[in-house]
Amino acid sequence: MKVVCKNENDTKRLAKEISNIVKAGDVICLDGDLGAGKTTFTKYLCEDLGVKGYVNSPSYSIVNEYDGDVKINHFDVYRIFSVDELYEIGYEEYFNNTSICIVEWAKKIEELIPDNSIWMNITLGNSFDERIIDIKGLDDKLSFEGALK
Ligand SMILES: Nc1ncnc2c1ncn2[C@@H]1O[C@H](COP(=O)(O)OP(=O)(O)O)[C@@H](O)[C@H]1O
Ligand SMILES: [Mg+2]
Repeated sequence: MKVVCKNENDTKRLAKEISNIVKAGDVICLDGDLGAGKTTFTKYLCEDLGVKGYVNSPSYSIVNEYDGDVKINHFDVYRIFSVDELYEIGYEEYFNNTSICIVEWAKKIEELIPDNSIWMNITLGNSFDERIIDIKGLDDKLSFEGALK
């Protein structure tokens, strides 16, 4: 389904709604150009999932771990050259049944992403703050006002 977020507050509302759906074991894949809003969405989602500390892109460390209501592993694979770097950090350990994984630039490591993951592709809309978010894997669960379907 496609969702229109007219401004950042809509993105925040969407994150809130998704926070009520996702559970331990889920993987949320985020794609979209630099500045699309992947980290912004992640910040709101983590906040809604009970993370108290600072959420920012783990560009240099590849993955940040947060303790919310559930454990959250926040990947940003923008700077990796090959999937070998994911094997080196033992990425498989992070995709487990007790944490939620959020992966920025997930398409770069698509071959490593588990089946049944949630995919969100963010593109710019018609106005400065508008974003179109194509969401796969949440079809029947999301009732976000602003959905294009
Ligand atoms: N509707 C929106 N949703 C998300 N971010 C938005 C929106 N409108 C404006 N922005 C701004 O766009 C920027 C997105 O940056 P960021 O989240 O770091 O992007 P990315 O992680 O995709 O590179 C932020 O400055 C944010 O405030
Ligand atoms: Mg980012």
